[in-house]
Amino acid sequence: MKSVIDIKDLSTKELEEIIAVAEDIIENPEKYAHKCDGKKLATLFFEPSTRTRLSFEAAMYELGGHVLSMSDAMSSSASKGESVADTAKTVSCYADIIAMRHPKEGAPLVAAMNASVPVINAGDGGHNHPTQTLADLLTIHREKGRFDNLTVGLCGDLKFGRTVHSLINALIRYKGIKFVLISPDELKVPSYVKNEIKDCGLEYVQTKDLEEFMPQLDILYMTRVQRERFFNEEDYLRLKDSYILTPEKLATAKEDLSIMHPLPRVNEISVAVDDDKRACYFKQVLNGKYMRMALILKLLEVK
Ligand code: NCD
Repeated sequence: MKSVIDIKDLSTKELEEIIAVAEDIIENPEKYAHKCDGKKLATLFFEPSTRTRLSFEAAMYELGGHVLSMSDAMSSSASKGESVADTAKTVSCYADIIAMRHPKEGAPLVAAMNASVPVINAGDGGHNHPTQTLADLLTIHREKGRFDNLTVGLCGDLKFGRTVHSLINALIRYKGIKFVLISPDELKVPSYVKNEIKDCGLEYVQTKDLEEFMPQLDILYMTRVQRERFFNEEDYLRLKDSYILTPEKLATAKEDLSIMHPLPRVNEISVAVDDDKRACYFKQVLNGKYMRMALILKLLEVK
């Protein structure tokens, strides 16, 4: 039984298999409509979510399975003081697989250590978000047709943005990736993540200046400043609008740039960019559902 807590829990070969299954689901959805008949997914979300929870649930329904959903920590026994370990043991009695989001870094790992069914990390604090990375990888695969030799700009809250940490940890497996890490000083990528880039012998630059690097980028991954992780509101207010992508700022960008964002967007991308053919963020949303379908099939060992 395998859980996915970190994107590193999946080998490069497994990532590529999941992408191939997702592509096949897109082409032949009817083939998959009953693959999970009789199976149950539990979604345990102790933090807000729109896309991740609903796409997990849509994924399970499209596989013919059922969903048990807990969308609000206050309505669960966690509010009475139940531990993550006990919750995981309990939910294992009802469901075949669990997707968990939690504000505390490491909570889904604790759940996986105590559950008797696979656990998927659907976002843990400012740490990791491996299934968003699956959505991102399918998007890059479909837009670019490769993972090698890409200049990837990551922009915004690179400190607390868990999707950024997981995406970096997926892309460092490939050759010729160059990261441009664009953030205010206070929101730089944590050193433990930068060390992973260095250890793989890849290049990165850190900058505050999006416009300077715009012409070099193959991918621009915008992120929201993570208000809920700040210790004080003043810092958030000062930093929240550090980057706002507009059609004017894209004037020097490549014709085939892919503009990505895990969403939700607050102000980081002007709605005027949505009509640009390079905007991929709503495709990412849909790709997330297909990749979660493929991941559920893999973890439930459905052929
Ligand atoms: C992200 C998250 O929850 O980390 N959202 C998502 O799952 N698509 C990004 C964010 O909240 O900013």
